[in-house]
Amino acid sequence: MLMNVKPSFRNLVIPVIQVLIFLFLFKAAKSQDNKSSAIDSKYKKGMVVCATPLASQVGLDILKKGGNAIDAAVAVHFALQVTHPEAGNIGGGGLMVYRAANGSTSTLDFREKAPGNASANMYLDSTGKVITDLSVNTRKASGVPGSVDGMVVAHKKLGSLKWAELVQPAIVLARNGFKISKRLANDLNRNRLEFVKNNPKNTYLINENGWKEGDLLIQEDLAKTLELIRDKGREGFYTGPVADLIVAEMKTGNGIITKADLENYHSVWRNAITGDYKNYHIITMPPPSSGGVALLQLLQSVKKYPLNKWGFNSDSTVQVMVEAERRVYADRSKYLGDPDFFKVPVDSLINPVYNQKRMENFNWNTATLSSAILPGNIAGYESDQTTHYSIVDSQGNAVAITTTLNDSFGSKVFVSGAGFLLNDEMDDFSIKPGVPNMYGLVGGKANSIQPGKRMLSSMTPTIVEKDGKLFMVVGTPGGSTIITSVFQTILNVIEFNQNMQQAVNAKKFHHQWVPDVVLTEKGALDDNCKTSLKRKGYKIEEKGAIGRVDAILVTNDGYYEGGADPRGDDTKLGW
Ligand code: GLY
Repeated sequence: MLMNVKPSFRNLVIPVIQVLIFLFLFKAAKSQDNKSSAIDSKYKKGMVVCATPLASQVGLDILKKGGNAIDAAVAVHFALQVTHPEAGNIGGGGLMVYRAANGSTSTLDFREKAPGNASANMYLDSTGKVITDLSVNTRKASGVPGSVDGMVVAHKKLGSLKWAELVQPAIVLARNGFKISKRLANDLNRNRLEFVKNNPKNTYLINENGWKEGDLLIQEDLAKTLELIRDKGREGFYTGPVADLIVAEMKTGNGIITKADLENYHSVWRNAITGDYKNYHIITMPPPSSGGVALLQLLQSVKKYPLNKWGFNSDSTVQVMVEAERRVYADRSKYLGDPDFFKVPVDSLINPVYNQKRMENFNWNTATLSSAILPGNIAGYESDQTTHYSIVDSQGNAVAITTTLNDSFGSKVFVSGAGFLLNDEMDDFSIKPGVPNMYGLVGGKANSIQPGKRMLSSMTPTIVEKDGKLFMVVGTPGGSTIITSVFQTILNVIEFNQNMQQAVNAKKFHHQWVPDVVLTEKGALDDNCKTSLKRKGYKIEEKGAIGRVDAILVTNDGYYEGGADPRGDDTKLGW
């Protein structure tokens, strides 16, 4: 029997309010999915976190088709070339750290190499002075690209789906075009004059009327290049029409990459370097990354201090971390370079006792002066535009890849007819001892230019285990701030109990020995902390954004929880 209930104001309004509250909370939760904090989505079967929503979707589709983490990584890499031209690269290189579900690890170095005709003084004038911008915005600034070889080599050893299936989504995005984000429109407009200066034949990255959010970016030449890579693998890039176009581009300026340089480029498998921090095991990138060594040094340097008790970004926490960073970056300037050319004393540098000893002259009352810190005595490195992606699959295989053109849009030199930009990675060498590169980093012999040598990198793709199980996959762009951003993100989770998204969102700070200044994002340090540090002699300067971390955490109950950096268009997708 139906009850005849007279609708009262209360009976009508309360449910409506309840529905509105529910809708509001639902919307808030959804919009927080990428940006924030307490409400977070967890996935069991796999996850992709990278710099653009379209590339994340490409990676997720591959996982859903049954592809593994490496298959998804290859597909994401090529999709980023199309959708993230600031840093996505086939004209650049990168570093990969991989951990299989069974716990075995490997790393792949597909960093660019100095061309055969490179020489130590190639960026100096006849009086020995550095020629401004020669190592940055010119054809001569490019190292021999490693990305295509890296993807081919990784796929051959560890992939499971067909190569062509992994390159195809990028071809579709390049040929059909995609609607650009506000961020990409602004980035392209900001770099317009450089594109025009470096590319008299024009590039489709220039829009005479200025780019707007939602404009369609179609890249037909790039689609053709990607088809050659799809059909011929590495030969589609390092020989044949694409190689011819790269060499022809070199000849329109002062470029020195030859066909032989391209043919001879090969990626290298290297053993991961590892270290322990409490009950966590860190698996990270060996040289030519300086990032892995420095990360392990930093963790060893702060291990004995009660950071958790002091609290997140408290004055004591920040002081200890800054002093550790000062010492570690001093070491970086002297001891880090391409291990195929320079004997890097990795074991001595990552030794816990050495790093704890380095902290002995730290004084709570006064900032150590960087001028008083020399590299240690050892026997025996976006706009910072690099990009990082983290992927895990349903079996638990995990991959962390950081990859770069160096500067935003690399050298701004577009390979005419082939549809992609070349890197300006040669600036990551020490072009003259003691002269800072674009990130203010100094170096010497270990990182001097030699033909065929790989330039030192700060890229720090890293995987963390807890109690022998996969715990975190992490990395970021940001030039010299890569190392300190990865360091802070790991500590934010381990010491300060933040979830993955909170750890990524958290405001960062950075010190790199020289210049002797603590760089912070606005709001990273509260007034008390800043006053206390300044009183002790620390110079503090605010910088725009630090880092663009994309990371995945495995929760205690075995779910994947992502952290996609809100500083960019970064997106986490899982299933
Ligand atoms: N080009 C940035 C880095 O490799 O450190």
